[in-house]
Amino acid sequence: MTRREFTRLAAVGPLRFGDGRDWFFQRRFGLFVHWGLYSIRGYHEQELYRKRLKREEYEPLMRQFDPVKYRPAEWLDVMEQVGMQYVCFTTKHIDGFCMWDSAETDYKVTRTPYGRDVLKMLADECRRRDVPLCLYYSVVDEHQKNYPHSGRPYELAGPQAGDEPDLAAYLEYVRRQVRELCTGYGKVSGIWWDANVLQVRDASMRAMIRALQPSAVINNRGFDDGDFGTPERDYDRGIEGVSVFPKPTEACESVGSQSWGFRKDEDYYSASYLKRSIQKTMAKGGNYLLNAGPKADGTLPEKAVNVLGEVGRWYKAVEEGLTAEPAGRLTQDARLLFTRRNKTVYLHITAEFESEAILLRPMAERPLKATLLNTGKELEAEVAALPKLWNQTPDRCLRLRGVPEGMAGAVVKLEF
Ligand code: GLC
Repeated sequence: MTRREFTRLAAVGPLRFGDGRDWFFQRRFGLFVHWGLYSIRGYHEQELYRKRLKREEYEPLMRQFDPVKYRPAEWLDVMEQVGMQYVCFTTKHIDGFCMWDSAETDYKVTRTPYGRDVLKMLADECRRRDVPLCLYYSVVDEHQKNYPHSGRPYELAGPQAGDEPDLAAYLEYVRRQVRELCTGYGKVSGIWWDANVLQVRDASMRAMIRALQPSAVINNRGFDDGDFGTPERDYDRGIEGVSVFPKPTEACESVGSQSWGFRKDEDYYSASYLKRSIQKTMAKGGNYLLNAGPKADGTLPEKAVNVLGEVGRWYKAVEEGLTAEPAGRLTQDARLLFTRRNKTVYLHITAEFESEAILLRPMAERPLKATLLNTGKELEAEVAALPKLWNQTPDRCLRLRGVPEGMAGAVVKLEF
């Protein structure tokens, strides 16, 4: 590909909503926080469901919730050090426990020994720093008496003593709670629905959120298709083959491979794994929401902070390439993704290479400069005519050398 061809590439127009929700395209890397009663025993955020516990074996945990070391400013300090620019917080996970002072229930954080509205504290800190705050809300609710349990994923096997299953009443509860969230905490930048196993479609939920919080992006796990897709971990193999996301996308992943909530016996991902995962998402134009689960005392686990720190050092070095416009796959090699900003093209090396050379076919133009953003080092770049294979025409390509072996998340800046 020649320099002229590069500059002629149809701009893969950045996706836009054309209103206040466009913050989502400027802030592409966020911190997901799963925090609730489940942090006390440190098993999994779905402890009640996964262990098939009775409510009375789980809900009394609220009498122990006392996160005396909770300082939202410390979470946001970590977040900002990593280079993340927004937060998504679990206001209510599938256990139904509310992390805000909801008027709708007593099963909430303000009725614990701690007694304070932890969401309010976080929202105040976000406002002080101008950090967009998104709110996770689970449709499944293992506590609320009107929720119609019937043993679908995350639900209880069926109604429990004292329950009054009533779908319409439950949906009104959801509506009133989301209204509280959209009216009591200042600006809300997103509603992150989860676990609508009821499969209820209801456009009025979106209409309410849009009216109350016009800059809030709404994900696709709620009552309609939402504003953006939410591929999770590596479950959706289909996106491997996509080189530019055709619609707004926010991939989500946790630093812990087993759980989103704090888990005592967690197997943390390696920083290399996370760097590649972030790179594969962002180079295709997606956002990335990386989760950590705070402990019951309100602090982030040390190992989570360490891996986030390592990811952050990398992120800050390569960020200009990750946030440039996705240009898709400009070569025949599916391991290489591209982004671009005017005449600068960024090469994303998303996998291990078999030799010391990265061969870009059919790019037969030498860049003025090739810089490995990870280290700031200039790379050897030349148009090479490699010995022809028995069944191929002469192999002219752009050859880059000098990317260290085993480097995860390498980004090369090619200035044409
Ligand atoms: C998965 C988990 C759920 C978590 C969510 C975050 O669906 O099952 O517990 O909240 O991922 O994306």
